[in-house]
Amino acid sequence: MHTLTSRRSRSKRLLLAAFTLASIGGCAVFGRGGPPATASLYARLGGYEAIAAVADDILAREMKDSVVAPFFKGLETRDLQRIRQHLVDQLCAAAGGPCFYPGKDMKTTHAEMEITPAVWNAFVGHIGQTLAAFKVGERERNELVVIVNSMRSDIVTKP
Ligand code: HEM
Repeated sequence: MHTLTSRRSRSKRLLLAAFTLASIGGCAVFGRGGPPATASLYARLGGYEAIAAVADDILAREMKDSVVAPFFKGLETRDLQRIRQHLVDQLCAAAGGPCFYPGKDMKTTHAEMEITPAVWNAFVGHIGQTLAAFKVGERERNELVVIVNSMRSDIVTKP
């Protein structure tokens, strides 16, 4: 038989359980929703760490490619570190993040390399593979494609 006290404490427990469920439900919705649709590309990609991981993955793929890797041959570790950091900064800034790209512009950087459309396609193909591997959403992928394509005419200098 239930006493008044035990009934009260049971309803308190029920209330607490309902409140907890509501909070968890709220958090789950918040977590699932991620940044709002109006957020910057930077935020929607997952911020600095996600962008740095994407840049590292792209570079790892480039360095393994027999068409792209020769362009980086002979560069010292500190050059590769600078290029990596500049790629992160560049992507972060282009995506609307709180970064500044302190490197040289794309035309000057790639001027003497005589990059052909075939080399470009190989390079950009790896970017696509990285974005697929990271399961980047379609909207974000499309925005990144626009950013990357906007650099093509400065980088591809040989027919
Ligand atoms: C989406 C296309 C590309 C982007 C966003 C990009 C971006 C960059 C950035 C940010 C740097 C560093 C510049 C600096 O430190 O001042 C760099 C350097 C370099 N890029 Fe690219 N790049 C692209 C395509 C290519 C392609 C297709 C090649 C050739 C396969 C290439 C070869 C190089 C090389 C060899 C360097 C080092 C230059 C040096 O000696 O400092 N890049 N690139």
